[in-house]
Amino acid sequence: MIDLAGQMRSWSVHAVGELPQAMQLIAAPTPVVTAGQLLVRVRACGINFADVLLCRGGYQWRASLPFTPGLEVCGQVIDAAAGFESFIDTRIAGPTALPSGGLAEFCLVPASQIHRVPAGMTDAEAAALTISYETAWFALFDRAQAQAGESVLIHAGAGALGAAAIQLARAAGLKTFVTAGGPEKVRVCRELGADLAIDYLHDSFVDAIKQATDGRGVDIVLDSVGGQVFGDSVRVIANRGRVVVLGFSSGEIPSLAVNRLLLKNCSVMGMQVDWFRTNDRATAERCREHLATLLASGALKPRVGREFDFESAPQALIATARRATIGKSVVVLSER
Ligand SMILES: NC(=O)c1ccc[n+]([C@@H]2O[C@H](COP(=O)([O-])OP(=O)(O)OC[C@H]3O[C@@H](n4cnc5c(N)ncnc54)[C@H](OP(=O)(O)O)[C@@H]3O)[C@@H](O)[C@H]2O)c1
Repeated sequence: MIDLAGQMRSWSVHAVGELPQAMQLIAAPTPVVTAGQLLVRVRACGINFADVLLCRGGYQWRASLPFTPGLEVCGQVIDAAAGFESFIDTRIAGPTALPSGGLAEFCLVPASQIHRVPAGMTDAEAAALTISYETAWFALFDRAQAQAGESVLIHAGAGALGAAAIQLARAAGLKTFVTAGGPEKVRVCRELGADLAIDYLHDSFVDAIKQATDGRGVDIVLDSVGGQVFGDSVRVIANRGRVVVLGFSSGEIPSLAVNRLLLKNCSVMGMQVDWFRTNDRATAERCREHLATLLASGALKPRVGREFDFESAPQALIATARRATIGKSVVVLSER
């Protein structure tokens, strides 16, 4: 093992709170690998809505303090735990092992959960690969058991998760209906291949879906917004449909009168990506292999929106919180 015994620059959250105050740029010891981990020199860090919630203390779980935000990276492996030495010097993408997040010059990554980065893919694209694509994959193909020819409604389609879901759904032969806030986001959803993109700020997605499906509704809904969007999604689910609960970007956790499930023979199910990665390794491996095949075929191309430099990392999180992002925002670290 390499003893770097050095200091690195790292964003750190010592007390949860509002952004940007919750994040401080500090000098910290370079992390040291423990069993099953890789030490990675970070080249780019993908920003997720969950980073915002973790910094504010409003996520489903609390990170132990202090922690470095940044849940996924692309980087160069420079040290590895026993058994994983063959990864040294390779460029990988993967989730980080909090409290050692990706908004730092070095971070730790679980060795069994990485994606090898195809040649030709930029660091920023690779940093957008792990969380959004895995989440969309587990939701569509494990939880909802999506089949070619079915239809799916994807909310926040121009977001990082939404863009990944559109690409995966299209590649699987699903008809894709998408909602997004505003004409620019709608344009991006169409560019990504959505069959119907609805500007929900302007039009009711319930009416649009009913009209587009002759009143039948959609087979699958991927809901990462919650609140009223969830309730309205149940209104447009078809008989035998599946609503996958992925998150609550609206800030509202909805409740449901379950008689609606009975009346429509439909299901509401949850999906949490970390659980799959950690507890269902066979399915996670199938996911990574399928994603690698689709990337090689050109069916998937991570949609990177804004790129931020390391010093501007808090602004990347703030932009996500303000829904001012399209695709994945990425913090790119320059060589030092
Ligand atoms: N279950 C899991 O394992 C898992 C994994 C990854 C992500 N997620 C969840 O999926 C959601 C999307 O994550 P992401 O990182 O890909 O973010 P994102 O979609 O890039 O950004 C969130 C989007 O949600 C929409 N939104 C609706 N109401 C909002 C509000 N009140 N405030 C902010 N945004 C709002 C906005 O799109 P419009 O402007 O088009 O409305 C916004 O761009 C989050 O809820 C996240 O927690 C869950």
